[in-house]
Amino acid sequence: MDHPANTVQDAPQKQAASAGPILSIVIPTLDEAGNILGLIDKLDAALVGIPFEIIVVDDDSRDGTAELVKQAALARADLRCIHRFGRRGLSSACIEGMAASAAPYVAVIDADHQHDETVLPRMLEKARSEGLDIVVASRFAEAGSAEGGLSSIRQKGSKLANAIAGLVAGTRLSDPMSGFFVVRRALFDKVARELSPDGFKILLDIVVSANSAAERIGGKPRIGEVGFEFRERNAGESKMSLTVAVHFLGLVLSKLTGGLLPSSFLMFAMIGFTGVFVHLIALGLIHALPDFNFTNSQLLATIVAMTWNFVLNNRLTYAAQRLKGLSFWLGLFTFYVVCSFGTLANISVASWIYDWQPQLYLAGFAGALMSVVFNYAVTRVVTWRKR
Ligand code: GDD
Ligand code: MN
Repeated sequence: MDHPANTVQDAPQKQAASAGPILSIVIPTLDEAGNILGLIDKLDAALVGIPFEIIVVDDDSRDGTAELVKQAALARADLRCIHRFGRRGLSSACIEGMAASAAPYVAVIDADHQHDETVLPRMLEKARSEGLDIVVASRFAEAGSAEGGLSSIRQKGSKLANAIAGLVAGTRLSDPMSGFFVVRRALFDKVARELSPDGFKILLDIVVSANSAAERIGGKPRIGEVGFEFRERNAGESKMSLTVAVHFLGLVLSKLTGGLLPSSFLMFAMIGFTGVFVHLIALGLIHALPDFNFTNSQLLATIVAMTWNFVLNNRLTYAAQRLKGLSFWLGLFTFYVVCSFGTLANISVASWIYDWQPQLYLAGFAGALMSVVFNYAVTRVVTWRKR
């Protein structure tokens, strides 16, 4: 039953008068022992006068981050650690931390001091005074800057990721990939079930999910931004990797197809596309050797390209169940076998279409597509089946 005073809009004011925190600050950590206590000190200094609590979500870091936090938590009731075992992932850690909050507003901030905690009071104030659902701390909004904290290749990658994210966000945002934001908890609760636990794009996911659930949740989310200067990482290393980036691309493409094509298929197809170039380069090199005629060279180049595709898919598409040791070689073998059948499927479909409609490129393309779909579907269950 819905009490009229119990609306989302009323919650913050009601809460402010009570004893609980107004703001829960979620800090995801993976090997941040050199950073976490320093950040907590900085938060204490930045948030004087604001009732807040800190929820650290640690994925069983090997450097003892969780123990440090629990030790510090003995001295204060507004700090706790969600210590997760056998699980990994930035987005899923943030989701779990936010789900543990009862405060009207939740903030997410990185542990490595890259995010300027002194803008948090302004973010909260903006959310409350302007009645916003989300306030993003943006590296690219006015007065924001990413120059300090990102290498030049990361800056380019970051701009690209932002541009791509803009395509799916459904809202104009200068930094949809930011990992630093404040969200009204009532909004989070409404979309929590739709969020995907993979990857590094929790904010984008919340925005996309809230936009597509607009009707159910009573309108599009209201979003504001404040600029901030992205600093250099304090201690330790970044967990961002090529795997994270490729998964992101796969997920975005998948969203663009309305979820019709799974992101693992799109990653498989992208890798297959790079395999074409590897094939051509290998063909040229091998054919230049003495004693290699076209057929031999083509055969060897095919094996090189299949190996390339296997290694990349094993590292990226199927990073979560990556084959190692003996399984690697068994997997490579099954991959060769499946792809050979894929080639048969390719040639049959292409000839069948060509007989029906003698259009060279149409038939060729259909055949190639057939083998990608076949190889994906079969290697998924044969080569990388989950054990
Ligand atoms: N619990 C948990 N589990 N925490 C994680 C994991 C994980 O698997 N992976 C990373 N973290 C934590 C880190 O410990 C850190 O506190 C925070 O998440 C960000 O990780 P970094 O490794 O420092 O990421 P980054 O600096 O490369 O990326 C930042 O900028 C990106 C945009 O360029 C993050 O803010 C991203 O969210 C953001 O998209
Ligand atoms: Mn970082």
